[in-house]
Amino acid sequence: MRRELKIKDLSIKNRFAVPPMVCFYWTDDNGYVTEKNIEHYKELAQGGFGLIIVEATAITKRSRLADTELGIWDDSQIEGLKKITDAVHEYGAKCFIQLLHAGGNGIDKEPDAPSDMVYRNVNHAKEMSKETIDKTIDDFAKAAVRAKKAGFDGVELHGCHGYLLSNFFNLRNNKRNDEYGDNKALFAIETLKAVKDAVGDDFIVGIRFGAFEPTLEDGIKNAKAIKEYTDFIDVSYGGDCDASAPEGFKCSPAVYGAMKIKEIMPDMPIFAVHNINSKEDVINALETGVDMVDIGKGSLVDPHFAKHILNDEPYGHCLHCSNYCRWNPWEMADPNKKCPGAIKFADIVLK
Ligand SMILES: Cc1cc2nc3c(=O)[nH]c(=O)nc-3n(C[C@H](O)[C@H](O)[C@H](O)COP(=O)(O)O)c2cc1C
Repeated sequence: MRRELKIKDLSIKNRFAVPPMVCFYWTDDNGYVTEKNIEHYKELAQGGFGLIIVEATAITKRSRLADTELGIWDDSQIEGLKKITDAVHEYGAKCFIQLLHAGGNGIDKEPDAPSDMVYRNVNHAKEMSKETIDKTIDDFAKAAVRAKKAGFDGVELHGCHGYLLSNFFNLRNNKRNDEYGDNKALFAIETLKAVKDAVGDDFIVGIRFGAFEPTLEDGIKNAKAIKEYTDFIDVSYGGDCDASAPEGFKCSPAVYGAMKIKEIMPDMPIFAVHNINSKEDVINALETGVDMVDIGKGSLVDPHFAKHILNDEPYGHCLHCSNYCRWNPWEMADPNKKCPGAIKFADIVLK
């Protein structure tokens, strides 16, 4: 848990990461960083995490997932993002940012996707032309350059959960008859290459991607295809997918997928996520051989989760309620409601 992790020349002080988690409603339609965002990431850095991956941040205004999420589509957004990296670096943590194109799942009335598709019975996504594909890859590269200017140590492409790269990886969404249909990983490969070319060798470029896209077999095939173009793989679920783990496996299916990918590429830094919510969960996940554990909702309940576990102190747990962490932009979360896990944790600490 305490061992440092090296990704190329970047040294991360321990095996605890905060995965990207959007804080809807903190910014507005312009996507600028607010004081709340800065305070939030600063608190997590104070909480002992070795790596903080800043939430899904839109590479263009059109490609957003919601109209109140952070943006990195314009140079004027660099200044606010720099305040986040400064705050995080002050406490010895490293900081990546997740670059998002929401694909068929975006808020645009006619969002881009590999093939025509209908999302949530609302979005009528249109098959991207080769010209739009090239333009989108360029948008990713430009966003990554802004991230470097803002002081991030690296970028993570959002390649899972049904957004654009995930749509391309997944045969249930990608029905193209061209080279992007023949090779489902081609769009991700071209994007990773363009981003790396734009930012240079002294910057980390990785991907969050689905082990099940839609099946584990497909996920492993995709992982092999992108292997030489990525510096790390942060393994999660795909979009429309079938995820499972064998009976008796101690962690979630997503951790199982991360373990299977680590087995076939032992030199690749692999992050695992989902329901790693206690010290025992952390130990079980790391024992599968993965390099990093992502603490999602647990870090929202207790921003000092990493420090508390490392110091054998009481820590907060996610209680798996359904609607307090502003997860769903389509159902306005009530900002007056408090996370029950955080309330319970505060009770323990105050006693
Ligand atoms: C409030 C919230 C926002 C999230 N936003 C993102 C995001 O921006 N990008 C992403 O890849 N995953 C996002 N996720 C998924 C988390 O990164 C993580 O994979 C998921 O919560 C499972 O981990 P956990 O069980 O530790 O919470 C979000 C999850 C939550 C709860």
